[in-house]
Amino acid sequence: MMSDAKFWRAGAIATTLVMLALLAVPTVDTLGAIRIGGRNVPPYGIINQKIAYVHDAQLDRYRPEVGGEELLFGRRFTEDEARKLAETAKLVIQSRACMLCHTFFGNGSYYAPALTKSWLDQAWSDIWMPMTEAATREEAMAKFLMTPDSFPAWTRRMPNLHLSRAEAEAVGAYLKWISPIDTNGFPSHFVAIKVIE
Ligand code: HEC
Repeated sequence: MMSDAKFWRAGAIATTLVMLALLAVPTVDTLGAIRIGGRNVPPYGIINQKIAYVHDAQLDRYRPEVGGEELLFGRRFTEDEARKLAETAKLVIQSRACMLCHTFFGNGSYYAPALTKSWLDQAWSDIWMPMTEAATREEAMAKFLMTPDSFPAWTRRMPNLHLSRAEAEAVGAYLKWISPIDTNGFPSHFVAIKVIE
């Protein structure tokens, strides 16, 4: 018969091994889900496609929908070029500390609109785009990002962070890249920005 000590030791080892195996499964699964091009993160090249935010009656929430080809800045980017744009944008976003005012996926500050779905923000089409006199969404965003202080007074004004044209284009592409990530309806609604009269 096993002594008490041996019994408990064997039990502890067996439990640890079982728990390690159980933890390995969600870890591997999560790594797959958050990989670029994985279940939850679109490939960089998605910036060449049309992205919409549609209301799903069955889910009773908005969800992103990816459509056919839609050129960005009038051209098609390879996966590698699109990755370089995203990398440039990450450096811009970190160096200008956009998250001191904005949020990405809920992280950051709530002073300014959430950037997670800003590419899909209806306010852009309705209010900003006509003001920038740009023909496309990306052109409007690039113009705004380079000179946010040149637009009429809004409820709050974004300071000019001196983004170069290349940096503004990269940030625009980045915002488009993250927009089709299904965030389960977060942020729950877009509020159209109001102009101060
Ligand atoms: C000091 C605060 C501040 C910082 C830092 C800042 N912003 Fe803003 N941003 C704002 C404010 C305020 C608005 C809303 C402007 C308005 O309503 O007129 C805004 C608006 C925007 C919009 C339009 C969003 C929408 O849905 O209408 C985008 C895109 C944007 N900012 C991107 C950026 C990026 C990218 C950075 C970093 C490079 C950045 N912002 C840094 C304050 C800031």
